[in-house]
This record gives sequence, structure tokens and C-alpha cells, in this order.
Amino acid sequence: MRVRICDFAQAPPSGRGVCFQDPSGRHWALFNDNGTFHLFEDRCPHMDFPIHDGDIRRGIVTCPWHHWQFDVQSGACLLHERIRLSKLEVQVDEGVIYALWPKTG
Ligand code: FES
Repeated sequence: MRVRICDFAQAPPSGRGVCFQDPSGRHWALFNDNGTFHLFEDRCPHMDFPIHDGDIRRGIVTCPWHHWQFDVQSGACLLHERIRLSKLEVQVDEGVIYALWPKTG
């Protein structure tokens, strides 16, 4: 399933993420890493605080609250490798960024 997140122009490579709400009301943190988009549920696994204001630098997202760090490719926490951000694949199509939900069942 493909769900619209935002227009391409709404997620510039600013070094920080942007928060978006999908049609079901779930919040997502979208990071533009020099033109490569990474989409995570906007909830840090440490204390469930939003992560969209975190920094993205050299492939690492740093949570703004207590500075846990996560690999943008896998979502894995650098301190505790079994802890991960929930990540969805992203598709850019005609200036619109979509989240791709994996098929279930
Ligand atoms: S809520 Fe993210 S590091 Fe604490």
C-alpha cells in the first residue's frame, strides 16, 4: 500500500527531520539526507518522544531529547543494537513522497 506523506518541497535537506501525519493519524518523521529520504515513525524507542526534530548527519539520526543515535539505513540504535526505529520505505513520484507499507498476510 502506498500512502502520500508530503510534497517533495516540504522536506528540504535541512539537517533536521519534518513531521507529517498520515491519513490514519499516525505521525512520521521524514529526514532528507542530501536527497535520500528516510521515513521513521515519529516516536523514539527510548521514551516515545517525537524524533522529527533530531539531527541527521553522516547517516546518523540523533534524537533531540537524550541524544540516542540511530543508523538511518536500518533504524538500529547505536547504543543498543536490538532497539530500532520503525522505518518504512519511501517512494518519490512526480514531486510527491509516499510511504510504502509492506504487504501483510
Ligand atoms: S526520547 Fe529519544 S533519546 Fe530519549
